[in-house]
Amino acid sequence: MSIPIYTYDAIIVGAGLAGCAAARELQSAGKKVAVITKLHPLRSHSGAAQGGINAAFSDEDSVELHEFDTVKGSDYLADQDAVEFMCSNAPETIRWVEKMGAAFSRTADGKIAQRPFGGQSSPRACYAKDRTGLTLLQTIYEQAARIGVKFWDEWYAADIIYKDGKVSGVIAFNIRDMQMAIFNAKSVMFATGGYARAYKINSNAHANTGDGLSIVARHGLPLEDMEFVQFHPSGLSGNGVLISEAARGEGGRLMNSLGERFMDKYAPNAMELASRDVVARAILNEIREGRGCGPRKDAVYLDVTHLGKELIMSRLPELRELAITFLGLDMIKEPILISATAHYSMGGIPVNIAGNVRLNNDELIEGFYAAGECACVSVHGANRLGANSVLEALLFGRFVGKTMASEIDAIELRVATEDDASTALAEINWALTNNGSEKVPTLREELQQSMTKNAGAFRTKETLDTVIAKIKELRGRFQNIRIKDKSKVFNTELQEALEFGHMLDYSMFIVESAVARKESRGAHFREDFDTRNDDNFLQHTMAYMDKDGNIKLDYMDVVLGKHELRARTY
Ligand code: FUM
Repeated sequence: MSIPIYTYDAIIVGAGLAGCAAARELQSAGKKVAVITKLHPLRSHSGAAQGGINAAFSDEDSVELHEFDTVKGSDYLADQDAVEFMCSNAPETIRWVEKMGAAFSRTADGKIAQRPFGGQSSPRACYAKDRTGLTLLQTIYEQAARIGVKFWDEWYAADIIYKDGKVSGVIAFNIRDMQMAIFNAKSVMFATGGYARAYKINSNAHANTGDGLSIVARHGLPLEDMEFVQFHPSGLSGNGVLISEAARGEGGRLMNSLGERFMDKYAPNAMELASRDVVARAILNEIREGRGCGPRKDAVYLDVTHLGKELIMSRLPELRELAITFLGLDMIKEPILISATAHYSMGGIPVNIAGNVRLNNDELIEGFYAAGECACVSVHGANRLGANSVLEALLFGRFVGKTMASEIDAIELRVATEDDASTALAEINWALTNNGSEKVPTLREELQQSMTKNAGAFRTKETLDTVIAKIKELRGRFQNIRIKDKSKVFNTELQEALEFGHMLDYSMFIVESAVARKESRGAHFREDFDTRNDDNFLQHTMAYMDKDGNIKLDYMDVVLGKHELRARTY
């Protein structure tokens, strides 16, 4: 079977906010650009972002306060030059997307409305009811499609072409009929999103299987700060579906089974609006100490009844629907049951502020870029503040698109050949024809359960070692899988097998990086090392995987700045 080769100036993998924004910039600059996505673009996980996008607009707020909150929220691991870039460009980015048609909620005097979110000194999250991500994604996708960006929907990116320090294309197949193709380009951007599906209870779309990260890592390239996985305080009890921080931003309260508003013990000033790592641990601690609510005692109450029907219906209508649909609880009339849910990945593919993928502070990979949740720039450090991810995706997606447009002409096209697809083809043929006895859903369930139990919001060396042993066992059993569906039409069983292989690899990065970080910082809480240790760990983890799947660790300096290290309390 011959493999078609399509040639573009730039290929983007992923059609969420970062991917669409970059594509729009490249196309506007006259470049020939294609976006490869395993979903329809409007089903990208950016559309699930509910609560808001941060920008310091109001008279009470400032860019400097936004920077300070972000750096403090990150537990001082964020790179302050990147934070400064993001916060100072945030207001203009909001105006840019608004001019393109994004309909934000408004105040009575017509300004863009802003609500409080966790860890903020001032109400800063601009929002469109509780559908902010969807509103922005629709806007950016429409604008990219309108000017002619070519979207390859329902194509699965299986590999990159990486040789001699340079990326020159992507290998992908059409999910509809498994036709493989080579997408050859001078520059490639990954905007492949996050990977919280490694955890059983998570707020992520089914597609968030982290393929992009392990595709990169399998070429021996590093992943940064993978130990930092964010647990959002409010996922619906039992399934983790997101109930936006907007509910607490609008005034929602957390209660335990004794009817106590327990956040006063953990964050007496910020209460429910402390940073997410603090609130998530407080909830889990209440449950661990026997003050959990609900039939399984594994949740706490989120109460917004005092806000009244009118406010709930005008600002939180989706949240209400979700709680009714999944729990049968109407938040207008009664408290709902929530608990922490794996939500966001602070780590990812290391990039500089311009979006170039890097090996360390100075060395870059030619023609390779990343933005959004799959990238680590690092503006979130050890813990991200709510409403900074939508900002990061949109803002860096846009600016990285500009960088790519300005660098493309200096890059020479390395012409691809069919041989470039050989690794991806071999992997797919293996998965289709392997005749073992293991089923992928069983293996995935075991991985997710072990990650949730042992590599969650609380960890110790012992629990993390348990997951490492589990991943090694599962890697062995994965070699013995069998796919029943041998057809070429929408073979989701095959796709899930490939995705699970990626999940195993990047989960190993999460736990190996977490074992080595013998301190507690942001979302990474080690019960056996329960304080921050700036003397030894004020640095980014850079992890590499060898051909046998073993992880080797190195470290990279954090870019410090005007916001000096302090104890972090809320
Ligand atoms: O709570 C939320 O609305 C989530 C927003 C975010 O992760 O930034």
